[in-house]
Amino acid sequence: MESQLQKTYTTIFNSDEGQAYFAPGRINLIGEHTDYNGGHVFPAAITIGTYGIAEKRTDKKVRLYSENFSELGIIEFSLDDLSYQKEHDWTNYPKGMIRYLIEQGFSIDQGMNILFYGTIPNGAGLSSSASIELLTGVIVNDLFDLNADMLDLVKTGKRVENEFIGVNSGIMDQFAIGMGKKDQAILLDTNTLSYDLVPAVFGEYVVAIMNTNKRRELADSKYNERRAECEEALKRLQAQLKIDALGELDEQTFEDNTQLIDDETLIKRARHAVTENQRTLKAKKALQNGDLTAFGKLLNASHRSLQLDYEVTGVELDTLVEAAQKQPGVLGARMTGAGFGGCAIALVKEDVLDTFIEAVGQEYSEKIGYTADFYKAHIDDGARKL
Ligand code: GLA
Repeated sequence: MESQLQKTYTTIFNSDEGQAYFAPGRINLIGEHTDYNGGHVFPAAITIGTYGIAEKRTDKKVRLYSENFSELGIIEFSLDDLSYQKEHDWTNYPKGMIRYLIEQGFSIDQGMNILFYGTIPNGAGLSSSASIELLTGVIVNDLFDLNADMLDLVKTGKRVENEFIGVNSGIMDQFAIGMGKKDQAILLDTNTLSYDLVPAVFGEYVVAIMNTNKRRELADSKYNERRAECEEALKRLQAQLKIDALGELDEQTFEDNTQLIDDETLIKRARHAVTENQRTLKAKKALQNGDLTAFGKLLNASHRSLQLDYEVTGVELDTLVEAAQKQPGVLGARMTGAGFGGCAIALVKEDVLDTFIEAVGQEYSEKIGYTADFYKAHIDDGARKL
């Protein structure tokens, strides 16, 4: 992959001095829509992601090219104007990273060429945008000897998403992609950013990634809507409870106080945030104890909560997950990521994986009218120089 990309870099940028970098995508095992509610998440970095070949320039031009959007050609801007430009399309992600790192005082005084190539299917909910952000972060960190911590890059990536792009997302994606470790899942407390690495050991089982191939076009506005609903529910609870986030509540305290919220929809949204956080903590214990049956049941319960209380699944994800859950050799399945489309995961016995893919794939295309894609998840290290 790398040597092919080096060749492409030479063709596009007329130089063979480019350095190679990689940032993974991520799956989330469990803990969905909890990261902006001060709860826990349990993601892992995966082997599919974004490659970059990059080199410093002597002028102030930033010239970016993506193999995935070759029809757009090289997109160019100057370090002197790092404002968001709609027509700069996907390059707003790297642009935002460069801009905010400069704003933090890091010295990036020369331009650069970067060739990008992503193996994450676009819009699949495996965090291609956070992967581009962190890839840009490790590239400029290395090219300009910034000595930035990975955690700095992670926080900068989140800021790009929130302030430059306008999606009010939490820190899970950037954290998983920056801090990922091979064969480990990350149990992250999004309130304190303390985390535990937990061996992602599934014995005879594998994590299958199932792509609905439904892009989550409108996801971002609904995403912000869900976040606003949780904030409103929290505000109402705070009238009586001394809490800073929904993630601080256990289920009992929450149920004892729903009258403070006094709105059916808001209660459901907050109930998801509270119960999902508890499920995530239980799932960590189950995985640590090797109790994959319990782990699988928690995956199923998570999907149900996202479907009924949080209402972020949709017919494509529900069809895929329900088809997966009823196959022999499956311990559990759920959507992963923001929802509204994108991907789901299933814990499947490896020796029945082929029949699983066939059966679920068939049921999905019969009901939905187009095919789903399947990949096996390999859990890998975070963003790095190659
Ligand atoms: C997206 C966001 C994350 C997180 C998930 C839902 O991936 O970027 O911060 O909120 O959705 O869990």
